[in-house]
Amino acid sequence: MAGTKMKLSLVGILIFLSMALFVAAEVFFEERFDDGWEERWVKSDWKKSENMSGEWNHTAGKWSGDPQDKGLQTTEDNMHYAISAEFPEFSNKDKTLVFQFSVKHEQKLNCGGGYMKLINDTINQQTFGAHTPYSIMFGPDICGDTNKRVHVILSRNGKNNKIKKEIPFINDQLTHVYTLVIRPDATYSVLTDNELKQSGSIYDDWDILPPKKIRDPDAKKPEDWDAKEFIPDVRDTKPEGYDDIPSEIPDPNAKKPEDWNVVEKGEWKVPMIPNPQYKGPWKPKKIKNPEYKGIWKAPMIDNPEFQDDPYIYVYPNLRYVGIELWQVRAGTLFDNILICDDPEYAKKVAEETWGEIKDAEKVAFEKTKKLKEEEENGEHGTLADDIDDDEPDHEEPDWEAKLREEDEGKHDEL
Ligand SMILES: *[C@@H]1O[C@H](CO)[C@@H](O)[C@H](O)[C@H]1NC(C)=O
Ligand SMILES: *[C@@H]1O[C@H](CO)[C@@H](O)[C@H](O)[C@H]1NC(C)=O
Ligand SMILES: *[C@@H]1O[C@H](CO)[C@@H](O)[C@H](O)[C@H]1NC(C)=O
Repeated sequence: MAGTKMKLSLVGILIFLSMALFVAAEVFFEERFDDGWEERWVKSDWKKSENMSGEWNHTAGKWSGDPQDKGLQTTEDNMHYAISAEFPEFSNKDKTLVFQFSVKHEQKLNCGGGYMKLINDTINQQTFGAHTPYSIMFGPDICGDTNKRVHVILSRNGKNNKIKKEIPFINDQLTHVYTLVIRPDATYSVLTDNELKQSGSIYDDWDILPPKKIRDPDAKKPEDWDAKEFIPDVRDTKPEGYDDIPSEIPDPNAKKPEDWNVVEKGEWKVPMIPNPQYKGPWKPKKIKNPEYKGIWKAPMIDNPEFQDDPYIYVYPNLRYVGIELWQVRAGTLFDNILICDDPEYAKKVAEETWGEIKDAEKVAFEKTKKLKEEEENGEHGTLADDIDDDEPDHEEPDWEAKLREEDEGKHDEL
């Protein structure tokens, strides 16, 4: 009897635990861009007066795994884009923060961003733009072949701190899911398509706080520190007659020209050439120094400037999610935005969205590509411009303009 009772309560505890595990996910914001999305998102008027504000298209794109599964796509080249949505304010203090979205660059991104921002406090969504301060910026950004990166920018006290590590990513024309996880122990992970691509500590991978340890600036190299790796071999001796070898010798092949005019040019002299036997002044051979101690480095000490901030990972009043981009060539499609506290839940969402459509999307993409090839063999059509063009179709990436823009705006504090 007692045994059965215990078993029952154990089962009860297990059921309770597993329920707790699955029910616990707190979702702060989720957007699949189904009907009604327009009531949740505010398109900014930023750059509108300069006619530089691009239009968004609510679409699944030119190829997709499910034509009904729509997202938001940039439509006009050489334009700025800014749009944002508000959610009930929250703090990630003592919580895991997960920021996830999917993005597809149908245009073969050559110069432009595919990132999103989390914003705190109160902003004017109507004027949201590159100048608007943000808390976290996350996602891919490309300009030319050399300027490719996945940004993870953590803002702190008005300073935008870039991640110091590289995050590999695939730059193709299919949908990929980007996930950023920030934990209360100040560690983070970046995943693409549910695969871990980078991880570490916020302390180490951003220069938000001064380093914990530094080299002692007052330490001095000991007088007797032997930093010479090689020394002359004292047992080596100069070979007999070494100094008698001349550095130059008369050219054995030179001949006095037949018509040499002694009156005009003086007596003919054999020209001198470098002596192949000559090896320069004698030096003893070098040998490894048995006293060598290596390159001296000051010892590490605690950095007096370092003041720990156990809340280095905390954003106390997150309230908006925004997309703010500049695109030389448009066609970037965002979808399935998720802000929550549970990486397992985010993983499940990624599997149920991107995971479900990725194979069909690939098929659709290959089909479009094939159509394009057929078109190219026949008459030239419009699709051809969008697929697999390695060359930009109208102009070189205007990355200088982009950098200028960044200098004037958001990136001036980096
Ligand atoms: C923007 O476009 C409108 C309509 O085409 C035009 O009247 C206006 O002058 C343009 N403004 C600028 C700053 O180019
Ligand atoms: C929106 O996307 C669909 C599908 O790619 C396309 O047919 C349509 O022309 C786009 N609309 C605009 C305004 O770009
Ligand atoms: C909101 O974020 C900005 C930019 O990171 C920062 O300067 C500001 O202090 C934050 N405000 C609050 C109330 O946390």
